[in-house]
Amino acid sequence: MQTVYTDVLVVGAGLAGERAAIEAAQAGLSTICLSIVPARRSHSSAAMGGMQASLGNSVMGEGDCPDVHFADTVKGSDWGCDQEVARLFADRAPIEMRQLAHWGVPWNRVVPGESSYFKGGAQYKKVEAAEKEGLITARAFGGTAKWRTCHVSDGTGHAVLFTVDNVCAQHGVEVHDKTEAIALLQDGESCFGVIARSLRTGELFTYLSKATLVATGGFGRIYPNTTNAVICDGGGHSIAVESGVVPIGNPEAIQFHPTGIVPTDILVTEGCRGDGGTLLDVDEERFMHIYEPEKAELASRDVVSRWMTHHIREGKGVKSSYGEHLWLDIRHLGEKHITGKLREVYEICTSFLGIDPVHQLIPVRPTQHYTMAGVRTNKDGAAYGLKGLFSAGEAACWDMHGFNRLGGNSLAETVVAGGIVGKKLVEYVQGSEVIFNSSIIDGEYKKQQKRIAAVINNTNGSENVFKVRAAMRQALHRGANIFRTREGLETCVKALQDVLARARHVGLRSNGRGANPELAAALKLEGQAKLALMIAYSALQRTESRGSHNREDFTARNDRDWLNRTLAYWKKPDDDLPTLEYEPASPTMEIPPGDRGYGKMDVISADHKE
Ligand code: FUM
Repeated sequence: MQTVYTDVLVVGAGLAGERAAIEAAQAGLSTICLSIVPARRSHSSAAMGGMQASLGNSVMGEGDCPDVHFADTVKGSDWGCDQEVARLFADRAPIEMRQLAHWGVPWNRVVPGESSYFKGGAQYKKVEAAEKEGLITARAFGGTAKWRTCHVSDGTGHAVLFTVDNVCAQHGVEVHDKTEAIALLQDGESCFGVIARSLRTGELFTYLSKATLVATGGFGRIYPNTTNAVICDGGGHSIAVESGVVPIGNPEAIQFHPTGIVPTDILVTEGCRGDGGTLLDVDEERFMHIYEPEKAELASRDVVSRWMTHHIREGKGVKSSYGEHLWLDIRHLGEKHITGKLREVYEICTSFLGIDPVHQLIPVRPTQHYTMAGVRTNKDGAAYGLKGLFSAGEAACWDMHGFNRLGGNSLAETVVAGGIVGKKLVEYVQGSEVIFNSSIIDGEYKKQQKRIAAVINNTNGSENVFKVRAAMRQALHRGANIFRTREGLETCVKALQDVLARARHVGLRSNGRGANPELAAALKLEGQAKLALMIAYSALQRTESRGSHNREDFTARNDRDWLNRTLAYWKKPDDDLPTLEYEPASPTMEIPPGDRGYGKMDVISADHKE
């Protein structure tokens, strides 16, 4: 058994993980990040439009402050978030933006006389003030009262991740890439590391750590249509769930982004609409203002995706061999803007679609984008159920997004949460003595060896990994999508129970223990099926509509019965359904539940009596 010791182990080397790792390394702790891919290929690099922070520098950001950002975030969450966490986030975000600038992020900055903006298809001009010259500027995003999305053109994630990865290297953070955590080391009370598998050689390693952080991003790849990279497959969530004591918070809260390109679902940034782009239907007519007179294309994502789907159902979609879609129109922004501030969109359109967005419409449809669902933690990032286990970023539900995340709030969350949770990790490591239990370590190592051998030798069956995975994806797509019904969810749960049973009997077509994608996929399939069941089963139980969870048979937000957060546990490995518990959405409410200001309001209030 090859054993590696470290003070802090970070599973995932994207922005949340690396930002936390910097805190640990700065405090003098030995710190290792495990990553499936080289750190700079982490999915944070695909984030485009920017990071929300109330710097208030841009001409349309005047008067912004953390209070306004906090209020937007709470409304965006449809009152599903923990308001104490949303407050921590909004207060901290401007400080992190400046920290990133100090580390070298080349933010777009205020250029006096440059600003102009589009509203309702018409161009307005409001000139940036000369005294703000050179300060970090921002663009509009959906569901916000002010322009506060700080950006590096539309390659923000890329620029920030490269910068933060440099800082990690400067502080001696080790990244062990092409290495995948496949099980937690834990005794039901404490976590002390992971068993990891080399994706190059297939060897198993034992990583022993005083604190372990799950920062593996989201799990969009359990859906068939997603903006997520193939690495966003729920590996980190699965190992936490398998403990039986760590819950997933709000698994039913899944976000669909309005503008994935057709047919590949690659993200086209909300920055397009923020900068003045419009959505058009089959007649090349705008339609969002009909449904949302105030915000139109810049309502929150759950609302825009819902109306787009509704509009297609009304017969207004564009038919194509890849299914129906709508159009995104950015032509009026002009070549200079498109090839400058939207240059990644330009490249994606030309390289992946063969169209020129300066002159042509972009085919788009709502597609899975983000999991508000995540490893449930407290506001310090400490996971429920296991001491020494932490989580941050999209992997976690700490929970600042509730049932809908605002665009630009998650990229900012990675560094804000990474910074806060990183400090808490350090306090934990410095204040506690960790005892490594050798019989647990030995037992888990042997269990994983046996599990891998069973899959390779087809001992438990020979179900085809890729067929079972496709069945899981289709079940979610049909039953747990933008619109949900009791009937659809019941069918989905049944289909997923079948998927889970089959996932327990997969065997390989290929052979080879090392760089074998079929083996890697097989090892995580059962965990993915459990996550999928958590989504469908908790969505079935939640008989209301809130944020991205939209029930056609329960259209009202029901604050009387459902102002709470789902905690989904997989208590025993062989169970075929999760166990659901609930806790209040927010122990303290700075802003009591009310009107979001967009999205049709239909609410059963907290004090409503039959
Ligand atoms: O549309 C975007 O640029 C995505 C941003 C986000 O998900 O926050």
